[in-house]
Amino acid sequence: MTSLPKDFLAQSLNRIQPSSTIAVTQKARDLKAAGRDVIGLAAGEPDHDTPDNIKEAAIAAIRRGETKYTAVEGIPELRKAIVGKFKRENGLDYSMAQTFVAPGGKAIIYNALLATLNPGDEVIVPAPYWVSYPDIVLLGGGKPVIAETKIADGFRLTPEALEAAITPKTKWLIFNQPSNPTGACYSFEQLKALTDVLVKHPHVWVLTDDMYEHLVYGGFKFHTIAQVEPRLYERTLTMNGVSKAYSMTGWRIGYCGAPEPLIKAMAKLQSQSASGASSISQWASVEALNGTQDFIPKFQRIFEERRDLVVAMLNQAHGIECPKPEGAFYVYPSVRKLIGKTAPSGKTIATDEDFAAELLESEGVAVVHGAAFGLSPFFRISYATSTAVLEEACRRIQRFCGNLR
Ligand SMILES: Cc1ncc(COP(=O)(O)O)c(C=O)c1O
Repeated sequence: MTSLPKDFLAQSLNRIQPSSTIAVTQKARDLKAAGRDVIGLAAGEPDHDTPDNIKEAAIAAIRRGETKYTAVEGIPELRKAIVGKFKRENGLDYSMAQTFVAPGGKAIIYNALLATLNPGDEVIVPAPYWVSYPDIVLLGGGKPVIAETKIADGFRLTPEALEAAITPKTKWLIFNQPSNPTGACYSFEQLKALTDVLVKHPHVWVLTDDMYEHLVYGGFKFHTIAQVEPRLYERTLTMNGVSKAYSMTGWRIGYCGAPEPLIKAMAKLQSQSASGASSISQWASVEALNGTQDFIPKFQRIFEERRDLVVAMLNQAHGIECPKPEGAFYVYPSVRKLIGKTAPSGKTIATDEDFAAELLESEGVAVVHGAAFGLSPFFRISYATSTAVLEEACRRIQRFCGNLR
């Protein structure tokens, strides 16, 4: 391979890391391709197929010739469906001009941050966090301010930790629930305690990432920030997408509701980068939001059973403590009691990264280490895979933990 000329790559690239969840997924794939018996529990996507009515809507759109450039902000039909979704499910009033469509939820976050950050601007990111938040902040020239949460608080940000993280330079709080990687959710009262803090700091905007809204269990009732505190509506970006709820990760559609001037700024940026999202995926998303929602409770039941299985089996593993979260399809167990032990290979487990590496090496189970999400010593398991595979993976984890000395 030829090398690039010196200074060819942008310095901004040095500020960021490649996504570690994608890296672990790729490593598991490579080991599998090399003939190893590997179970991958690192991927962040539902394992079931996109519902048929949504696929049919996409096929119909192709047949109608909806295959050309769309408006940068999204097709009017989808923006209208987004207005309807926010009203119906969140009690939020957004006009069409306050909505925006991007190629994935990640692109919504990227556009919002790149369109608003100036050097020195601070962005509060509760940890553990979804891996991309700090890196997108850094790409935008901002400074991530990490606010750690505790397992004892169910990995929820406390009002005290939020207050302590706010400075005159804070521009955004990035808030995500149900959480990737912990699955943590916030009740109305827990959200209200946070919004009470935010109301006192009018310069702080909130980017709420509600991607996993529909993946909640045990009768949990989801609320979003602008709904809990209408006084924050004027400085909240409510982000969502079809990737997780409708099993559409590959279709690449994310959307948001936000004050119109911010939407205009994001559209300006996207007009010189991706342009509009895929026309076909946008038509599929119209059906996702407007069509039957019957499969959502079905998906929820399946995920809830798997969550219960994984939590029970992991808590039987020697030295692991696994809380039971209310949402998403992740658990975030602690390996605190295993740090300092020796793996069958003779290597000492000094960090959660060692734990994940040795687990992959000796039992062929791929998980993502907590350090990647900014809080150690933990690891993340995605339970978006079949019960049989999860049972086998948990048995292997139990054996691995039992063999540590
Ligand atoms: C919390 C969170 N936000 C945003 C995204 C990005 O979603 P999309 O695939 O639509 O870009 C993900 C995907 O893993 C996620 O976990």
